[in-house]
Amino acid sequence: MNSDSDCKPRQDWRSKFPVTETYIYMNHAGVAPLSRRVREAMAGFIEDATVNGAVNAEDWAETAEVCRTVAAQLINADTREIAFMKNTTQGILIAANGIDWQEGDNVVTTAVEFPANVYPWWSLKERYGVETRMIPERDGCICIEDIASVIDTRTRALTINHVEFASGFRNDIQALGELCREHNIWFIVDAIQSLGAIEVDVKSCNVDILAADGHKWLLAPEGAAIFYCSDERREQLINTNIGWSSVVNPRDFLNYDLTQKPDATRFEEGSYNSVGLYGLKAAIDLLLDIGIPIIETRILELTAGLIVGLEAKGYRVITPKEDAERAGIVIFESEQYTPAEIYEMLYAENIITAERGSGVRVSPHFYNTVSEVERLLEVLPDL
Ligand SMILES: Cc1ncc(COP(=O)(O)O)c(C=O)c1O
Repeated sequence: MNSDSDCKPRQDWRSKFPVTETYIYMNHAGVAPLSRRVREAMAGFIEDATVNGAVNAEDWAETAEVCRTVAAQLINADTREIAFMKNTTQGILIAANGIDWQEGDNVVTTAVEFPANVYPWWSLKERYGVETRMIPERDGCICIEDIASVIDTRTRALTINHVEFASGFRNDIQALGELCREHNIWFIVDAIQSLGAIEVDVKSCNVDILAADGHKWLLAPEGAAIFYCSDERREQLINTNIGWSSVVNPRDFLNYDLTQKPDATRFEEGSYNSVGLYGLKAAIDLLLDIGIPIIETRILELTAGLIVGLEAKGYRVITPKEDAERAGIVIFESEQYTPAEIYEMLYAENIITAERGSGVRVSPHFYNTVSEVERLLEVLPDL
């Protein structure tokens, strides 16, 4: 690991994260802390709404549109392909419920998805007789060949976590996107464990639909999520989320006309979580100012050092070691201590991690430091 003095992003940005004054916060795969910049953006909105009511609502709408632009930039999409949702699950539901299913169709996913990417698909069984095919992992990895082997003529979609929440495995969405193109099936990506930490390019990866809430690697508040639906797929996706604001003349209230908006905003059913969007915009601005490639390099460096240190102390690391196969999550376990015991040992020293499955999940972001990783390792007993 390079020393902290080599870390440019830390030098410039760490002080913007007040959480660092109290904690070694390494739970960005759970819920991230907010930066001062995000806090100030949200506080500004709250003050305005408090003092002026909705008199400045045009500014709120403008901020939402700027947020849409930076969200699009973040994933290499066009603004007309972005809608705002309340969370990741809402985006996945819109995908699952909007495909024109026929009895006997199937959707392929893994057996280790976060449930947000399971239940919306399972619920299709009763309604349409759609089968969900779940591919098990092998040694913490998902093999593309295993996915390819279950795709058949009745497969309509592949849906997957870009980074698996319980192993940290980074799926190769470029290769999976190609596979989906070959079979002409929908490709849906839950990117909440990758967006903000590593590069995500919906175009080069042939992603049809992507969903990610802001509260993890984007360093934004909960309840302000990005939903992407490609231009090519928009008309094919049945809109099951139509509300007053989905239509071309949303403010012509009593002149009912169900003509849908031409862009992805047709999937937005009603009023925005404006305070959340102020936060989301400020959070994305911050990430783009630093640059995702710099953030990714830094995260991979911190997690690589963590893995080496954990193994040197005798812990078993579940997360794959190759840079291309992981992002910001490292999960480890031991035979001597339960995950709860390890979590508590770290928590007692103000080191924030999470228990996940048989292990403890550590998920540092770019503003964490090499010294913080070393401190975490110091607190863990040798095995
Ligand atoms: C892979 C994954 N998807 C989705 C979620 C959460 O979904 P939502 O934004 O709907 O709360 C999580 C974690 O909370 C997750 O790890």
